[in-house]
Amino acid sequence: MFATTPVLQVSSEFGSQYPCFSTRIGYRDRRGTLCPGETGFILESVPAEEWTTAERVHRYLGRADEFPRRAEGESGLLEHVPRDALRILDLGTGDGRLLALLQIDRREMLGVGLDFSELMLTAARERFADEERVELVEHDLAEPLPALGRFDAVVSSMAIHHLEHERKRSLYGEVFDLLKPGGVFANFEHVASPTHRLHLAFFAAIGEPLEDEDPSDRLLDVESQLGWLRALGFDDVDCYWKWLEMALLVGVKPAEAG
Ligand SMILES: C[S@@+](CC[C@H](N)C(=O)[O-])C[C@H]1O[C@@H](n2cnc3c(N)ncnc32)[C@H](O)[C@@H]1O
Repeated sequence: MFATTPVLQVSSEFGSQYPCFSTRIGYRDRRGTLCPGETGFILESVPAEEWTTAERVHRYLGRADEFPRRAEGESGLLEHVPRDALRILDLGTGDGRLLALLQIDRREMLGVGLDFSELMLTAARERFADEERVELVEHDLAEPLPALGRFDAVVSSMAIHHLEHERKRSLYGEVFDLLKPGGVFANFEHVASPTHRLHLAFFAAIGEPLEDEDPSDRLLDVESQLGWLRALGFDDVDCYWKWLEMALLVGVKPAEAG
């Protein structure tokens, strides 16, 4: 028998196989291959109402500012979005936090925020109640992006990791198409740790018990995502900031691209 190491979160490898479930416990053999133990995987269903319950949304919004090192990652993102970017799309905008930060130094910008959570969009509508330069659109990112015109920048903060990996990849392709030549994609994201020990370290660092891990997370490593962005044709692709499972991934659409 292979010596096995318990793995608590293996949904990244198996998520697309079980679109309605998050695999919570499996085993990694000595070659590093993920496989079921003798009793098979233990599966925990992911509630479809994730991000639609008031408790979940209010808990996130109430603690959003307390997230360790968040300001650092967001500052990095803001530095990568040109000050003269006029049209900016925010994927998984939540209550519009990132659009509001972008507006500080870009008073002329026209923001579009997408989210599928009515509660989040209600919070965003309140934030931008007197603001005509921000449009909020209800949309499930699991589906192809709607026709919204082209953008100088597409941004996202802690949202795309909720999508299945295949959808992350196709979404990045749609982002490339939506960007104007020279446009920037900047994704401040929750990414997978290279080891389970580091995954535990991340949860310890943010002061959350592992049991509270978001069952809708589909964490993916930085390298895979950077590889996809390069393959799609983005330039200057890199991870520009990283702290444990938080990372800033950026790519620029070449000026000569259509
Ligand atoms: C952790 S919150 C981040 C919100 C905001 N970007 C911020 O930085 O505060 C994740 C957001 O992604 C949204 N989200 C998750 N899955 C989504 C999907 N499939 N389609 C659209 N939005 C989604 C949630 O509704 C939520 O607003």
